[in-house]
Amino acid sequence: MKKKIYFFAAVLFVGLISTMFYSCTKEGPAGPAGKNGAAVSAEDQAAFDGADGSIGARLYDHPLNEAMDQDANVSFDASMIDYPNFFRCKSCHGWDLRGQKGVLIGKAPSATYPTAVDVDLYAWAKRHNIREVFEAVKNIGGRNSKSYNSLMPDYSPILTDAQIWDIVKFLKNVAHNVMDFYDMKTTGVYPTGTVAFSDIGKGGNAANGLAVYNTNCAGCHGADGTSINIYCQGEYLGDMFRDDPHEIQHKAIWGMPTDREHIAGGCNVPFSGEMPVQNITSQDIRDMMVMGQDESKFPGF
Ligand code: HEC
Ligand code: HEC
Repeated sequence: MKKKIYFFAAVLFVGLISTMFYSCTKEGPAGPAGKNGAAVSAEDQAAFDGADGSIGARLYDHPLNEAMDQDANVSFDASMIDYPNFFRCKSCHGWDLRGQKGVLIGKAPSATYPTAVDVDLYAWAKRHNIREVFEAVKNIGGRNSKSYNSLMPDYSPILTDAQIWDIVKFLKNVAHNVMDFYDMKTTGVYPTGTVAFSDIGKGGNAANGLAVYNTNCAGCHGADGTSINIYCQGEYLGDMFRDDPHEIQHKAIWGMPTDREHIAGGCNVPFSGEMPVQNITSQDIRDMMVMGQDESKFPGF
C-alpha cells in the first residue's frame, strides 16, 4: 500500500516537473525584459482596433520598403537598404511564421541572410496579449540598425507605433495558419533540412480559382501568369504556385511593397514591382493554388 502511494507521488512529481519544463521551453527564448506579463491599456486596445492587418502583412514582408511607400519623407540609411534581409521579418521568421521548423529549415545564414529564429511566431502571437506582442515587435534595446547579425533589430527608430500596431494586428488576427493551404513535411534539422509540400490548395476548386484569377490578377500577370518575369529572375506565377505555396498564401492577398532592390539591380519591373492588397478570400487563394498546378495553363519560365 505505502509503496503504491510513493509510486503515485513520484509519477505526479515527474509529471509536474515536465509540465513546468514544457511550459517554459515552449515559449522559446525569454527575449528582452518587459515583453511578457505587461497589461493591456484602453489606449492599446483602441490602437489595436484601429490598426490594419493587411498593412501589417506588408510591413512583415518588408518594413523598410513599406514604410517608404507610406511616407515619401521617410528614408533609411544606405547601410540598411543594402542589407534588407536583416530587417525583413520574413527573413528570420519565415513566410509561414514557423521559423527554423518551417520553410526556413533549409535556408542557411550567409553574409546577406540572417539565421532563422527557433520560435513558432504564429503560436506565440496567439498566446500573448496585444501589449506583449507590441513590445516584442518594437523590441527597444534590440540590435542596433547599423549592425548585421541575427539578433532581432530594435524597430523603435524604424517604424512608428501605428505601424507596429498594424503588425500586431497581422500577427494576432490576420496572418494565415499556413496549414490551411497545404501540407508540409520537413526532414532533417535547420539549416540543412528540406521541406516538401503536398496537397497544395487543399482540394480547392480550379474553375473558381481561374475566375478569381481572371478578375483580379490576369490584368497584370497575364492570362497564363507569364506577363511578369518575377524579379527578372526567370520565374513566372506558375512556378510559384507549384514551388512556393508558402509565399503565395501571403502575397496573393496582401501583395507586396515597391520592389526597390530589384529596381536598383537594373530590373525594369512593371508597376515598380508594387502589388496592391487584393480583395479576395482564403478560399479564393486555395482555388487559385489548385488552378496553378496545371503547368499547361500556367507554364514555368
Ligand atoms: C535578424 C533576425 C530578425 C528579424 C529581421 C526579426 N526578428 Fe523577431 N526575433 C528574432 C529573434 C532571434 C527572436 C528571439 C529572441 C528575441 O526576442 O530577441 C525574435 C523574437 C520575436 C518575437 C517574440 C517571440 C519570442 O519567442 O520571444 C516577435 C513577436 C517577433 N520576433 C516579431 C518580429 C517582427 C514582427 C519582425 C519584423 C518587424 C521581426 N520579428 C524581425 C529575430 C528577428
Ligand atoms: C496591379 C498589378 C497587379 C495585380 C492586380 C496583381 N499583381 Fe501580383 N504582382 C504584381 C507585381 C508588380 C509584382 C512584383 C513583381 C516583381 O517585383 O518582380 C507581383 C508579385 C506577385 C507575387 C510574388 C512574386 C514573388 O516571388 O515575390 C505573387 C505570388 C503574386 N503577385 C500573385 C498575384 C495574384 C494571385 C494576384 C491576383 C489575386 C495578383 N498577383 C494581382 C502586380 C500585380
